Amino acid sequence: MKTKIIKISAPFARGRVNHRRWQTKIKQVTKILQKGGIVAFPTETVYGLGASVWNKAAIKKIFRAKRRPPNNPLIVHISQFAQLKQLVTKLPPAAKRLVRHYWPGPLTIVCRATQRVPQEVTAGLPSVAVRMPRHQIALALIDAVGPIAAPSANISGRPSPTTVTHVHQDLTGKIDALIDAGSTKIGLESTVVDFTSHVPTLLRPGAITLEQLRKILGRVVIFDHRARTSQAPKSPGMKYKHYAPRARVVLVGGNQKKISATINHLIKTYQQKGKVGVICWRYHYKADYVYEAKNLTALAANLFNKFRSFDSYGVKYIIMEGMPERHLGLAIMNRAKKAATHRVQLK
Ligand code: TXA
Ligand code: MG
Repeated sequence: MKTKIIKISAPFARGRVNHRRWQTKIKQVTKILQKGGIVAFPTETVYGLGASVWNKAAIKKIFRAKRRPPNNPLIVHISQFAQLKQLVTKLPPAAKRLVRHYWPGPLTIVCRATQRVPQEVTAGLPSVAVRMPRHQIALALIDAVGPIAAPSANISGRPSPTTVTHVHQDLTGKIDALIDAGSTKIGLESTVVDFTSHVPTLLRPGAITLEQLRKILGRVVIFDHRARTSQAPKSPGMKYKHYAPRARVVLVGGNQKKISATINHLIKTYQQKGKVGVICWRYHYKADYVYEAKNLTALAANLFNKFRSFDSYGVKYIIMEGMPERHLGLAIMNRAKKAATHRVQLK
């Protein structure tokens, strides 16, 4: 399959681009989706690989292109609140309050699905995950074709794509089209909250933080993906290996006073075996490659990108400076732990 690459300016540049040309390009993509094609498109979190939620054949193509296990359900993306009715039987009042606050934005809610939502999308679960992305290209496409089911546009298990190059690396030749719209802003996938249980449950931390959720919802529990219960896994995607670069990732966390001495020691040790890359935000380091984030927002935005670029430089070991698991730190550490082959927890 030949993948069409369609360049559409990032939304912030829209004032400066020819609006009619912008619309023509959106129409071009719309037609591909209406004919049952699958298209990689930008959102504010990461690139998604989308198809019309009602087109079962197209949904199956997404699973094949990503090599995604069939029991891992997709998120349905909407552009208007009215579209919720087609997807969920009832919106619990707590969920309503939350989405009023954070949609469009990096928040996904899980609610009971209507009969109409195909099993291919929900992977047979009685629930469906829905989100309204904060990105003008995504919203324009959904306005035109209706709800779009989309996982992240990467091969399963690889870091999620935050640039068009990442999508290109994983999916060229396997999808109908790819929208080139620059880097995504947030860089980590959306926060997922389950409203089908008694107490709202955080299934995946993201840029909408646990602290922000609790401000609106009161009690929120964190789902423990390691706990073995008789129930089916709550967020099936979270049990798979994820976000992994080819390099070995060593995550150093815990006592912040000891962290820099430990990392300096590890750099020396690992450099005897191969190139070392460091991802840090608090202290300075010297290694073969160093990414020093100026704050945690920047670290989140660049994490997956650095995983992939360090791989392309032939880095063998990535040492990452951990952080307290609060605010955005919870989401970053969640991805870092999944990517890590080795963890050092300092007391
Ligand atoms: O930011 C994002 O959410 C991006 C962009 C493209 O919107 N999408 C994304 O999709 O990260 P994906 O498929 O990579 O992750 C979806 C997560 C998986 O962990 C999946 O198991 C979970 O949401 N999920 C989907 N439907 C669910 C359901 N009915 N119940 C529980 N978890 C569900
Ligand atoms: Mg994914």
